[in-house]
Amino acid sequence: MFAAIVVLLASVWFGNCAAEKTICKIDENCTMNCASDDIIDLESSTDCKTIVVKLLKSNVDVWQKLKRYPIEKVVMFQQNDLQNIDDLFKETNIKKLYLYQNNLTELKTGTFDENKPFETLALNRNQIKLLETKSIPAVKTLYLHYNLIESLNADAFVNISHVKILRLDNNNIEKITAASLMGLKADYLDLSYNRIEYLEDASIPEVKHIKLDNNKLASIDSKKFVNISYTINLDLSYNRITQLSENSFSGMLNLTNLSLSNNLIASLDMYSIPTVKNLNLSYNLITFINTSMFEDIDYLMSLDINYNCIKSTDFHLINMNVSNQKDNETCKLNRKDTSKIKKFTSNLMIAIFLMLTLILVGIVTAIALRRYAESSTYNLKNDETTRGTSNGKTDDIKMVSID
Ligand SMILES: *[C@@H]1O[C@H](CO)[C@@H](O)[C@H](O)[C@H]1NC(C)=O
Ligand SMILES: *[C@@H]1O[C@H](CO)[C@@H](O)[C@H](O)[C@H]1NC(C)=O
Ligand SMILES: *[C@@H]1O[C@H](CO)[C@@H](O)[C@H](O)[C@H]1NC(C)=O
Ligand SMILES: *[C@@H]1O[C@H](CO)[C@@H](O)[C@H](O)[C@H]1NC(C)=O
Ligand SMILES: *[C@@H]1O[C@H](CO)[C@@H](O)[C@H](O)[C@H]1NC(C)=O
Ligand SMILES: *[C@@H]1O[C@H](CO)[C@@H](O)[C@H](O)[C@H]1NC(C)=O
Ligand SMILES: *[C@@H]1O[C@H](CO)[C@@H](O)[C@H](O)[C@H]1NC(C)=O
Ligand SMILES: *[C@@H]1O[C@H](CO)[C@@H](O)[C@H](O)[C@H]1NC(C)=O
Ligand SMILES: *[C@@H]1O[C@H](CO)[C@@H](O)[C@H](O)[C@H]1NC(C)=O
Ligand SMILES: *[C@@H]1O[C@H](CO)[C@@H](O)[C@H](O)[C@H]1NC(C)=O
Repeated sequence: MFAAIVVLLASVWFGNCAAEKTICKIDENCTMNCASDDIIDLESSTDCKTIVVKLLKSNVDVWQKLKRYPIEKVVMFQQNDLQNIDDLFKETNIKKLYLYQNNLTELKTGTFDENKPFETLALNRNQIKLLETKSIPAVKTLYLHYNLIESLNADAFVNISHVKILRLDNNNIEKITAASLMGLKADYLDLSYNRIEYLEDASIPEVKHIKLDNNKLASIDSKKFVNISYTINLDLSYNRITQLSENSFSGMLNLTNLSLSNNLIASLDMYSIPTVKNLNLSYNLITFINTSMFEDIDYLMSLDINYNCIKSTDFHLINMNVSNQKDNETCKLNRKDTSKIKKFTSNLMIAIFLMLTLILVGIVTAIALRRYAESSTYNLKNDETTRGTSNGKTDDIKMVSID
């Protein structure tokens, strides 16, 4: 009985199918290389768990023959002229549909069966800008990364609460509203590498691992992350956050790892740092840190405050696993600027000292020279007296005079 997973792989370069009518079989690599008019022999399936069906992009009609088999996985990628899929994959029992690296521009209502859930739907690396209402079927793993999505609405999902893994990174999303992801209760949400500047109050849903890094967030107040006690891991690195205020992360009871690295945080309010185990505050502009800034310092296991502008640290933090060896370059530059005046004055002092020394040396030399001049005129007189008796060089003269 054929129960294998069939992978239908339509690729540009796998294009050389025989023109004459042949029987298309599963080869030793569990691959099928079929032309549209081939007779397809799926029954020859051997020990293959995954069958790869290679298909010319123009031969999508082969799919019509395969459709009736209990295919679990279909891969169709690198089809430059695949801009929409209409209802190609409707009324099938595919569990995993990979449609990455094509040129899909939108997802229309009714593209997929509303009642047939997918395990994985990969639509990453397309040109998708628009997600129509209820266009996304019930799916556990949804890949929408590397598209052109600008805005999100939970309406686009047939049932958003099905989703466990949602990748929306590398799109053009500018804001997350309360309606964007309403109802999502997932394990993983990736919103990194977007243009998110604005988070509406209570817009971040209950997700275990949230990636919001590499966006344009400037402020995190007490209303952004509310009642999301489910979250374990929150990555807010590479944003433009300037300050943390009290209760910025209140209610995030299960939060274990928080990264705020590579922001512009200069000041931390009292109790602004939530109860976390691993905290990354590296690459910021923090000048001062003390225990009052933590909701519960006893919970903290590691703190990375490398590359900040730390001038003083509370000694209670010394016992913690604190990494704080390095200064951010910006701070070093700033410090150089402020020390410039000091350096200038100290240089001036050295210059004055040197000049005084020079003058002194000059005076001493002058006196010495005068004395030498006096003594040498005396010697000259002496030399003249001896010259007559010798025809040699001056050295000889000296020797003579010494003698
Ligand atoms: C099966 O895979 C091997 C190794 O990639 C390759 O050398 C061989 O040509 C393939 N066989 C067929 C029939 O494509
Ligand atoms: C498909 O997308 C690629 C990459 O964005 C683009 O260069 C190409 O022109 C597109 N092809 C079509 C047929 O739209
Ligand atoms: C949506 O999915 C969830 C989880 O799978 C399920 O509990 C709920 O009943 C579904 N809602 C609808 C309206 O189908
Ligand atoms: C948080 O949840 C509690 C209990 O479910 C609720 O009473 C409260 O209003 C919620 N807070 C916000 C800001 O939504
Ligand atoms: C915290 O996480 C644990 C383990 O995942 C879970 O059992 C618990 O319900 C979570 N607590 C809250 C308040 O969500
Ligand atoms: C939390 O961070 C620590 C150290 O940075 C890391 O080892 C651990 O895997 C992280 N935990 C999660 C749940 O990401
Ligand atoms: C903190 O974040 C920086 C930059 O993202 C990273 O290089 C560093 O390893 C992190 N520190 C820890 C302890 O994970
Ligand atoms: C210093 O910190 C700022 C702000 O976080 C960051 O943009 C910059 O890249 C950092 N510079 C270095 C050399 O770490
Ligand atoms: C920590 O710093 C804050 C703000 O500078 C200050 O109000 C507080 O008294 C300090 N707490 C401790 C324990 O030093
Ligand atoms: C401190 O944390 C680092 C990594 O987070 C770990 O490798 C190291 O063993 C820890 N040191 C102590 C004393 O806990």
